[in-house]
Amino acid sequence: MSHYQVEGGDPCDWTDWEAAGRTKGGTCGRAADSWRRYEEDAALAANLGANAFRFSVSWSRVEPRRGVFDEAALARYRRFVERLVSLGLEPVVTLHHYTHPRWFHEKTPWTSPASVDAFARFARETARALSPHVRLFLPFNEPLVLLLGGFLDGQIPPGLADSRAAGRALDHILAAHAEAAGVLRQEAPGAAIGVAHNMMDFVADRPGNPLDALLARHARRLYNTAFLEAFATGRWNLWIPPFTRFKGRRDALPGSLDLVGVNYYSRLHVRFPAATRVLTGFAYRDRQGRGLTDNGWEIAPASLPALLGDAGRLGLPVLVTENGLADGADALRPAFLESHFAALAEAEAAGVPVAGYLHWSLLDNFEWLDGYGPKFGLFAVDRETFERRPRPSTGVFREIGKSFLSLPLRGTRAQKSVHI
Ligand code: FCB
Repeated sequence: MSHYQVEGGDPCDWTDWEAAGRTKGGTCGRAADSWRRYEEDAALAANLGANAFRFSVSWSRVEPRRGVFDEAALARYRRFVERLVSLGLEPVVTLHHYTHPRWFHEKTPWTSPASVDAFARFARETARALSPHVRLFLPFNEPLVLLLGGFLDGQIPPGLADSRAAGRALDHILAAHAEAAGVLRQEAPGAAIGVAHNMMDFVADRPGNPLDALLARHARRLYNTAFLEAFATGRWNLWIPPFTRFKGRRDALPGSLDLVGVNYYSRLHVRFPAATRVLTGFAYRDRQGRGLTDNGWEIAPASLPALLGDAGRLGLPVLVTENGLADGADALRPAFLESHFAALAEAEAAGVPVAGYLHWSLLDNFEWLDGYGPKFGLFAVDRETFERRPRPSTGVFREIGKSFLSLPLRGTRAQKSVHI
């Protein structure tokens, strides 16, 4: 899960975004009240048979004023991490999951090199507080989505639609990843570093149409692999049709990853000419008959093995860092879990070193632009009492997770992880 979507009461740039009416789904408010209930949530995950738990640290809580770190907030995360460890849950810690402290965009925006130092300092303070208990850090969740949504499409904070600003932000976000990786390795020796990269499948909307097919191929390459390759090579050259190109180089990037995390949800049907809005101009269609989720996303497990294979080309273990669906009635979730675990097995059989699977999500939570409509939880959360109620698919998750965990990680004696 991610801090803002579950903790509640965390004023940050996203809170201001809601207040300015920039979201469709209203305000976050108390979220799932996890800031006070994290220990309870950890126990729910442990009872499901999970052996890992992904969460993120709120930068706005930890550094509410620039350069001033809140020891009580850090201690609260440390207590949670200790609880996870005592329950046999491996903490998987994301440092940046979309939100920023209120001061950030004004004082050290991603368009400025000062952002790199600011992020590295936050990484250092967090690692100091959480080591030695954390063995896997993900400095960024979906950095490409942050870039596209925040700097090209104006959909999420800071809400820019400016390709020059986007080019600078991309450079600094990648530099911040590399810098944070170095800091984390110093402060938490032995910890692995990953990135949670959103991957989608893209297919021609009009089957057989060569221009749609060309666009789909380009989108697959741009969105899924070209960006990831920057972490391996230190260079990027991304062309976003028709007129936007980002080119750059950061020599600190190669070696900054130990593992590739993949967030996978769905596939998109693209039609030429592409719509101008980067994140919203595509269609979801139920072409495989597996259904559409409550928020309209096509359920497409068949695309997952090839995407994991693409991620695996970096030569590192691949961890599914998010996968799940909005399904309030819990009608599609059992089949979703089965088909996606089958897809994981297929990827492994094809040689991809799948390190684990983290489900999105343990709880119903605040969905960024859509509020509390979409219900992603294995547990429903009562919006008045915050009581967590298991959906029937918790049983399916427990059983499938057990057999998944009984298989060793290909080529090593390490154990797989299954979460939340
Ligand atoms: C992912 C985000 C996550 C959640 C899911 C549904 O892209 O990382 O926070 O919103 O989508």
